[in-house]
Amino acid sequence: MKIPKRLQPLVEDGLIDDVLYQLMSGKEATVFAVTSQGEVRCAKVYKEAMKRSFKKAAQYQEGRKVKNSRRARAMEKGSSFGRKQQEDAWQNAEVDALFTLSKAGVRVPQPFGCYDGVLLMELVTDDEGNVAPRLNDVSMSAEQALEDHAQVMHYVLLMLCAGIVHGDLSEFNVLVDSYGPVIIDLPQAVNAAANNNAFSMLQRDVRNMTDYYAEFAPELKETHYAEEMWALFQVGKLTPETELTGYFEFDESEADVDTVLEEIKAAFEEEQARVERMSDANSDDE
Ligand SMILES: Nc1ncnc2c1ncn2[C@@H]1O[C@H](COP(=O)(O)OP(=O)(O)O)[C@@H](O)[C@H]1O
Ligand SMILES: [Mg+2]
Repeated sequence: MKIPKRLQPLVEDGLIDDVLYQLMSGKEATVFAVTSQGEVRCAKVYKEAMKRSFKKAAQYQEGRKVKNSRRARAMEKGSSFGRKQQEDAWQNAEVDALFTLSKAGVRVPQPFGCYDGVLLMELVTDDEGNVAPRLNDVSMSAEQALEDHAQVMHYVLLMLCAGIVHGDLSEFNVLVDSYGPVIIDLPQAVNAAANNNAFSMLQRDVRNMTDYYAEFAPELKETHYAEEMWALFQVGKLTPETELTGYFEFDESEADVDTVLEEIKAAFEEEQARVERMSDANSDDE
């Protein structure tokens, strides 16, 4: 096909040889199949930051580290240099996350780098070389759903061990090839330890995945993987070897706040009565 404008610089630099066809154009990117170094690969072209919701960006960016202090100041000031840096940080976040996660043992497309707002990565395909379907387009047996759900929960655990919460995990951001689920679309991945929204994002990620697989294996609805993982993560006990059960005992004690308050009030009243008795006794002496 005709080379899209945004891919032209990569063609000139020899990073891309040819553009084959356009895949989906999602909400935040347009994705192409390209040839690069003799292989068919995937090029994800990010849409401009301006078109994205800033409210969402702020929530995700909390706790994201920027090492260079000039860059950090520019980002805070929101100057045009700052906006450019913010956009770079957003785009680099995905390639960084892909490198980190593939090292951690999570199945993600193999990344080759991010250049001029274009992420080059492995094209996930089925056995015949066709682009792999999204989980949303796949139906399966209950056994398969249980197996794949467990696999995805293990990936979520490995991500958390690597300090990352996906933040937009759903049946639309998981591809399925002949080996099973492959996690994609990570520009919004959040720092699990530094972001105050990390736990609620983890809960939402796990709920999305569990709800989808529960359509085929309804018993999954009763599981509580996010809470189980987070409780272990918080006390430094979550490891890649942790065997999750999906079972979590919710702490009921918070519901007992009233009882505790009653007891404090009773103790206070008792003490007051004692003090009054004492002072009565003292005044009797006079
Ligand atoms: N590495 C890949 N291999 C095959 N298809 C991909 C790959 N990356 C993205 N896609 C396809 O492109 C679509 C959009 O990519 P995604 O990373 O989810 O961006 P968006 O933010 O636009 O949702 C995906 O739903 C998937 O169909
Ligand atoms: Mg997507």
